[in-house]
Amino acid sequence: MENDCKITLNTGLRGITIANTRICEVDGKNGRLLYRGYMIQDLARASYEEVVHLLLHEYLPLAEELQPFRARLAAERAIPPAVIAALRTFPAKALPMDVLQAAVPMLATHDPDIAELSKEISKEAALRMAHRLVAKFPTVIAAYHRIRSGTDPVAPAPDLGHAANFLFMLNGRMPEDTAVRAIDTALVLHAEHAFNASTFAAREVASTQAHMYAAVAAGVGSLSGALHGGANAKVMQMLLKLGGSEKVVDFVNAELDAGRKLFGLGHAVYDVDDPRAHILAPMSKALGERTGDPHWYEMSALIEKTAKEIFRKRKNADIPVNVDFYSASLYYYLNIPVDLFTPVFAIARVAGWAAHVIEEQFGGAAAKPVLYRPESEYVGDYCGPEVCEFVPLEKRKKG
Ligand SMILES: CC(C)(COP(=O)(O)OP(=O)(O)OC[C@H]1O[C@@H](n2cnc3c(N)ncnc32)[C@H](O)[C@@H]1OP(=O)(O)O)[C@@H](O)C(=O)NCCC(=O)NCCS
Repeated sequence: MENDCKITLNTGLRGITIANTRICEVDGKNGRLLYRGYMIQDLARASYEEVVHLLLHEYLPLAEELQPFRARLAAERAIPPAVIAALRTFPAKALPMDVLQAAVPMLATHDPDIAELSKEISKEAALRMAHRLVAKFPTVIAAYHRIRSGTDPVAPAPDLGHAANFLFMLNGRMPEDTAVRAIDTALVLHAEHAFNASTFAAREVASTQAHMYAAVAAGVGSLSGALHGGANAKVMQMLLKLGGSEKVVDFVNAELDAGRKLFGLGHAVYDVDDPRAHILAPMSKALGERTGDPHWYEMSALIEKTAKEIFRKRKNADIPVNVDFYSASLYYYLNIPVDLFTPVFAIARVAGWAAHVIEEQFGGAAAKPVLYRPESEYVGDYCGPEVCEFVPLEKRKKG
């Protein structure tokens, strides 16, 4: 190596710890996930609002604190009429994640805490922005879905909880308790996951001192990809394409032969199954039984089992199931349109992004240099021994 100081890894930062955080611990070896020290299995019994409080305010609220906190979020649910008007301009075929990402800076332009460029944003203001974003994400998605379906947006219902209100705004009718509980738990499970791709994107933007909305918009963009939050929709597309269990073995073999990824399987951090999948699988099973249509769950379980067996035989390695695998059939049972699966993930994860933006900008873990700035190693050409000769435009020749 010419320069001993330069180490080029080309590993997508796998296994490299780049910062401290007090928000979340993912123990990939043992399949443990904790938000601020609490096991995900325990938090799955809490409401999304409690978990938002935990992530943003660093402790689980007391009973007497939860009600005002819920009211505070509920009071922020409405989105400005100008944003609704803008949502009406998007084509009906627009990808909902694009619409959501576009809506974030629109909401920023209406946020009273970022009205002046010269004004420094305090931690209190950043928290207010976080509340607004958490509160408004479901409204944006539900409103866009209503508009593209040819109906009018439904105004948020202040008396409903976060999960119930989302389903109410989406469908225009009171949701059943089972559906509310399922979405509430799914939101809890998806709220946070340490330095995953979208959170890293949000933190990287926040490290430049850009504001909360700029960072969150980056998070939405990152989450939309099929290898990240987009995987839940891909899982459902796979289930729908397969239709039944009889083709599962051939399908898994064909995908692996073609070098394609099986969505909902594999993880950059977990060596063993994602603990969230073990909570979501029985939820999907229960909803399948309740709706009298268990085959989406059953097919998922068969794909998981088959893929694990085939993967072990082929690669002598285990492939873990991840959070996106069973959330797909779960959301399908809840009649959520497939292209809203990833936006539902975003509705949950916005709390985690916001917590990380605040940690990045206002400390909380160990100090680090401001501004993420990794290096890269240039492996391109110099068209000669040292640099390329610049030829003026009029003299440039092909070849
Ligand atoms: C998430 C993901 C990007 C992690 O990738 P990664 O860090 O490269 O995973 P690993 O290093 O553990 O992969 C080891 C091997 O398994 C393969 N592999 C991993 N996940 C796979 C999958 N879902 N389907 C098929 N093969 C997979 C890799 O290609 C690699 O093969 P190789 O050794 O022959 O090159 C990857 O598992 C994936 O694309 N999964 C599907 C998309 C998905 O569900 N994303 C949501 C994640 S929460």
